Amino acid sequence: MKAAVIKRFGEADVFEHVEVDTPTPPADHVLIKVLACGINRYDTYLRMGAITREITFPHVMGADISGTIEALGAKVDTCTVGQRVIVAPGFPTNRHEWDFQPENFASSYAVTGTRFWGGYAQYASVPARFVIADTTGLTPEETACLPLVLVTAVHAVRTVGRVTRGTTVLVQAGASGSGSMCIQVAKALGGRVATTVGAPDKLATAEQVGADLVVNHRQEEFAERVLQWTHGRGVDVVIDNVGGEVFTDNLRCLRRGGTLVNFGAVGGMHARINLLDLLFRQLSVHGSMMGSMEELRFGLSLVREGALRPILDRTFPLAAVARAHEYMEQRRVRGKLVLLPWADTPTHSESA
Ligand SMILES: NC(=O)c1ccc[n+]([C@@H]2O[C@H](COP(=O)([O-])OP(=O)(O)OC[C@H]3O[C@@H](n4cnc5c(N)ncnc54)[C@H](OP(=O)(O)O)[C@@H]3O)[C@@H](O)[C@H]2O)c1
Repeated sequence: MKAAVIKRFGEADVFEHVEVDTPTPPADHVLIKVLACGINRYDTYLRMGAITREITFPHVMGADISGTIEALGAKVDTCTVGQRVIVAPGFPTNRHEWDFQPENFASSYAVTGTRFWGGYAQYASVPARFVIADTTGLTPEETACLPLVLVTAVHAVRTVGRVTRGTTVLVQAGASGSGSMCIQVAKALGGRVATTVGAPDKLATAEQVGADLVVNHRQEEFAERVLQWTHGRGVDVVIDNVGGEVFTDNLRCLRRGGTLVNFGAVGGMHARINLLDLLFRQLSVHGSMMGSMEELRFGLSLVREGALRPILDRTFPLAAVARAHEYMEQRRVRGKLVLLPWADTPTHSESA
């Protein structure tokens, strides 16, 4: 099969588009023909060696797999050949922890495509129990936009942030893959959402997904605007996928007793917290990582109901994966990028 592999850590040019052996699924796995695989910011960190240095090269990454079942392992009776499926974007990799609940708290939990090969290839072998029938009615490239950001958004916004009807929420980076999904989940739960973008052409994306207030953080102080928007009170919840440089201002945006949920650090890994501010205003700060199978299923039920939808920026053929990573690292992405392992030539979408 064709795969985009890395043989060392580094910049986007480390990818090689090569022929590798198609995996043979063990007894409890299924072999999936990958029709589309979403790209996440996580992949860029993995590529650079910032997630783990314990990778056996060559490695195939890719967490957001959408495809059809090509073959079943000897013991699998839960899926059928030809069925359209998506793969959980993370699961406990140690078999002894497969029953661990919620899955994302298991010690061996890993993002799909980290410890084993993922979806930057024409086929992937994955445990059958972490495969979900795709009943969304969407195209493969659309469903490939969903799993990782959807499960993350449901966990961060609904479970940890406890957003419900009337909750006021600030979601950072509203046109990003994760931000655009968090806005949609918050709106589906009845929240009112403010968000930030860093370019005028991202405004429309944030509005399309339902943001009630969109602030271009390069033109205005977002904390000032968010405080104005809440008549000086502050929001109930901040969903923070940026961290570092915006963390202090995020805390400023919270009401007394408010909650900040952080799940990303694209703006820097370190943040300054004034403990007196935390204490006097009784703020809560939570970390959040990925989500459980139950949360993924809940998110997919929202998709089926039409309460939220994938935001596909553009597709790239597998051979153009380096360009796709660069596009993401240049902060150009509006929604999601998706790789098409069976498209040999540049797609219309890529040249758009
Ligand atoms: N823990 C989890 O479970 C989980 C799950 C998903 C994502 N994440 C994390 O969340 C973060 C965002 O992921 P994503 O997939 O949504 O990324 P993405 O689609 O590439 O979007 C990232 C956006 O962040 C904004 N940004 C703000 N400050 C930035 C800076 N200093 N450098 C670069 N971008 C900056 C940019 O938007 P503007 O130009 O509009 O400001 C950029 O486009 C990453 O750290 C990722 O690892 C974590």
